[in-house]
Amino acid sequence: MEKDEIFSNRLAILGKLAASLIHEIRSPLSVIKMNLDYLSMNDSEWNDDTRESINSCKEAVNRMSFIVTNFSTFAKKSHKDDEFISLNDLTLTAVKVAQIEARMQGIKIDTELQQDLPHLRISKDKLLQVFLNLIYNAIESKTKDNLIVIRTYTENSDWIVWEIEDSGKGIEESAKEKIFSDFYTSKEKGTGLGLSVCKSILDEYNSQISFESHLNVGTKFFIKFPIKDLTK
Ligand SMILES: Nc1ncnc2c1ncn2[C@@H]1O[C@H](COP(=O)(O)OP(=O)(O)O)[C@@H](O)[C@H]1O
Ligand SMILES: [Mg+2]
Repeated sequence: MEKDEIFSNRLAILGKLAASLIHEIRSPLSVIKMNLDYLSMNDSEWNDDTRESINSCKEAVNRMSFIVTNFSTFAKKSHKDDEFISLNDLTLTAVKVAQIEARMQGIKIDTELQQDLPHLRISKDKLLQVFLNLIYNAIESKTKDNLIVIRTYTENSDWIVWEIEDSGKGIEESAKEKIFSDFYTSKEKGTGLGLSVCKSILDEYNSQISFESHLNVGTKFFIKFPIKDLTK
């Protein structure tokens, strides 16, 4: 076999392995989640220590299911969940989910959202995954002023732009062309799937993702949604 062929064969096997692993992890994860929710029904009886420890279990489980979903979105392409949604509402949902992690690190997430944006026909779950990936990356960028800002606005009435800005460490020149590749990560515990998942989801909706980044100054990621295409 050619070298390339061996490599892509290995990748295919790895893909199958990952898919079955994800499948196996899902059900015990949902058992943990259900039991934590069950415990939460009596949270008025807890002392502060117990509450804190159950809440951190919940956060850990949420983070795990986010990672698992990143892996499974990787393979799936279906438009059956598409519905008209408000980007601003979904942004606020994403901020709420990421808030716990941000707060633990003393980071504030601000939003500047243009009102009355047209609703777009997109899958809520997939887009939430995109927003969360970008928000988590901003949190992990070690932002210096402890602030992340998310903006929505229209551009020439053709596009809705969703923008996220951090004042973190920025992206090295040599990494700029790699960050959207599968498995590229500069983090010790990264999966390198976040941005490639974002890109493949946004491709499905003819939407564009781009960024501007300066070392030790910060990074802005932009998503551009085509209004005409997504309001049909
Ligand atoms: N906001 C950001 N600031 C600095 N670097 C970033 C940012 N977002 C992405 N990156 C770079 O892109 C890489 C790939 O990101 P991603 O695909 O989400 O994988 P992961 O977060 O698991 O590393 C990161 O490891 C990091 O080097
Ligand atoms: Mg990431």
